[in-house]
Amino acid sequence: MKQFHVAIDGPAGSGKSTISGLIAKKLNWTHIDTGAMYRAVTLWALNNKIDLNNESEYRFLEKINISYENDQIFLNGINVSIDIRSEEVTNNVSLVSSFPYVRKKMVDLQKKAAENISVVMDGRDIGTVVLPNADLKIFLTANVEERAKRRYAENVQKGKVDHIDNVINDIIVRDEKDSTRKEAPLKKAKDAFELDTTYMTIDEVVNKIILMIEKKENL
Ligand code: CDP
Repeated sequence: MKQFHVAIDGPAGSGKSTISGLIAKKLNWTHIDTGAMYRAVTLWALNNKIDLNNESEYRFLEKINISYENDQIFLNGINVSIDIRSEEVTNNVSLVSSFPYVRKKMVDLQKKAAENISVVMDGRDIGTVVLPNADLKIFLTANVEERAKRRYAENVQKGKVDHIDNVINDIIVRDEKDSTRKEAPLKKAKDAFELDTTYMTIDEVVNKIILMIEKKENL
């Protein structure tokens, strides 16, 4: 069978990563969470105290190694899947990912990772920039209260105590930054299907997208 590329984009907390991971697992394809890659860059930048506002300081990307395998993200071979979810990373990742130099580096890695394999890749610019010829493009949305509720439940499960209002605020601020940046802003590709998941369960979303994939495969 020919390789198949699924691009899943959408705002913060819309369930992209969970849904993409489950679809890839069911189909035995590769899942790539591009948000985790931008988070790993942010983690390195914070740990090494570079000036986050100075694009030229991101040259460290020439020297470090970022890879995503089996739903885990590695920074120079070290698994940082938990560290990239810290509040400090979350608060700075939209700034870090707004720099064209950082985006070029990550997009190159992402394009390469998708070469010759079937992938489900999720992020903000997958259907528009990274995989413009994807076989299926989905734009996942849900209203902000529902997205905050999901993120809040995730945080509680990880033992992170926060106020729901802070979670709502984080989502609103990040969506605004991601949608209004100059370089590759979050937006629905013209040929993407918009799926509002506010009143859908995870299984319903996964099954719906798998049906869409099967339909396309049989064309
Ligand atoms: O928190 P959530 O899972 O919704 O976000 P994420 O997918 O982990 O992405 C974190 C941040 O990385 C986003 O808020 C964007 O600023 C940035 N990002 C991006 O610019 N382009 C992508 N393809 C993926 C993420």
